[in-house]
Amino acid sequence: MQAAEVGTIGRFDGREVKLTGWVYNVRSSGKILFILLRDGTGTIQCIVEKTAGEELFTSASRLTQESSVGITGTVRPDARAPGGWELRVTGLDVIQIAEGYPITPKEHGTDFLMDNRHLWLRSQRQHAIMTVRAGLIRFIRDFFDNRGFLCIDTPVFTPNACEGTTTLFETDYFGDKAYLTQSGQLYNEANAAAFRKVYCFGPTFRAEKSKTRRHLIEFWMVEPEVAFAGLDDIIELAEDMIVEVVGRSLERYRPLLEGVLERDVAMLERVRKPFPRLSYDEASAILKRKGAAFEYGSDFGGTDETLLSEEYDRPVFVHRFPSAIKAFYMQPDPANPALSLSVDLLASEGYGEIIGGGERVHDLALLEKRIEEHGLPKKAFQWYLDLRRYGTFRHAGFGLGVERTLSYICGLQHVRETIPYPRLLNRLSP
Ligand code: 4AD
Ligand code: MG
Repeated sequence: MQAAEVGTIGRFDGREVKLTGWVYNVRSSGKILFILLRDGTGTIQCIVEKTAGEELFTSASRLTQESSVGITGTVRPDARAPGGWELRVTGLDVIQIAEGYPITPKEHGTDFLMDNRHLWLRSQRQHAIMTVRAGLIRFIRDFFDNRGFLCIDTPVFTPNACEGTTTLFETDYFGDKAYLTQSGQLYNEANAAAFRKVYCFGPTFRAEKSKTRRHLIEFWMVEPEVAFAGLDDIIELAEDMIVEVVGRSLERYRPLLEGVLERDVAMLERVRKPFPRLSYDEASAILKRKGAAFEYGSDFGGTDETLLSEEYDRPVFVHRFPSAIKAFYMQPDPANPALSLSVDLLASEGYGEIIGGGERVHDLALLEKRIEEHGLPKKAFQWYLDLRRYGTFRHAGFGLGVERTLSYICGLQHVRETIPYPRLLNRLSP
């Protein structure tokens, strides 16, 4: 018997195949049983007729939600079925009858679903989100690989902070202190001196006491870094990347986005070049005009970002933030050294900042001064300072958060659904 998968079942039109999977749902109309089978690659309706045999029919009628089974049958086209195919069942092999599966078709609260995240991932909605996530990651990698960037990994255990000391996770490293990485950037800068155009892509950690719909404790970030590039170069790079990955996500996953996730894709269709570019000063003036509580000189809050993005029909860049609110490595703006050559990209519809980046300080003396001003341990940064000692170079880069970008593409209210096992302020399990 030919083993088959639901995702590619169309290859077997008219033939008898064996599927393996789990029962999503069973319905009966007296003489016919409809088993909705889920095999991880898709779902298919399997039809058991009483005339196919008493024993088969009785055994099928005992199936419960999430029972594991092998089902043999003939593949037939069905225009009304979601995948376009159905199975006429000829044999059933029950592996286990599942009892009392906690997630039923009725409504459940988010906490309950999150407690059962290991099971919740089996649902159609989560399946769609994780499928788009895998695609988004692939499209991002393709974008950089096709442009000659080298993917080069950076460590998770680090001896120093990258994004400020307030959100560091500290751990014991054989008697020494180590920190979970907040960003691969510092290593990327070394790698850019070795390979010119690089990116890292991995998990990053922030001990952030924020309980918002945009904050995770553990999230995935892609970070390109480019030698002999400045702020404008990486703004263009970010713009090209967003246009490409949003475009490819729409092209590939429109049925999932519209059909399963009920995403209104109109805003995504408008993601075309050029994105508006606002200076921090211009953005502050807009917030003031709109009556926001925002004070000049401070960082934007979630509400401020939403107010700004509302002004445009596509994502918007905000550049040249005050140096005082940015990381130690930000290059000052030659036109006004109180400002930094930094940039954030704000997604539309209130999804907030999805990219942060800028040009790095490349002068040794200035960088030493910054490290001191920020109260950072000079010793741990010696290797980083070497990059300014041995052939220093202008360079810039950015970081894009995968989960925030995915919640924007999928139209999700909260980032917790964008990662298989979210780590949140109040959640470490499952
Ligand atoms: O703006 P951030 O902190 O920038 C950096 O870490 C730079 N070192 C990156 C670089 O230049 N190489 O973070 C970059 C992005 C944010 O725009 C956001 O998308 C995401 O990472 N991010 C988070 N996502 C989820 N939860 C959190 N707590 C996040 N913090 C940042
Ligand atoms: Mg940022």
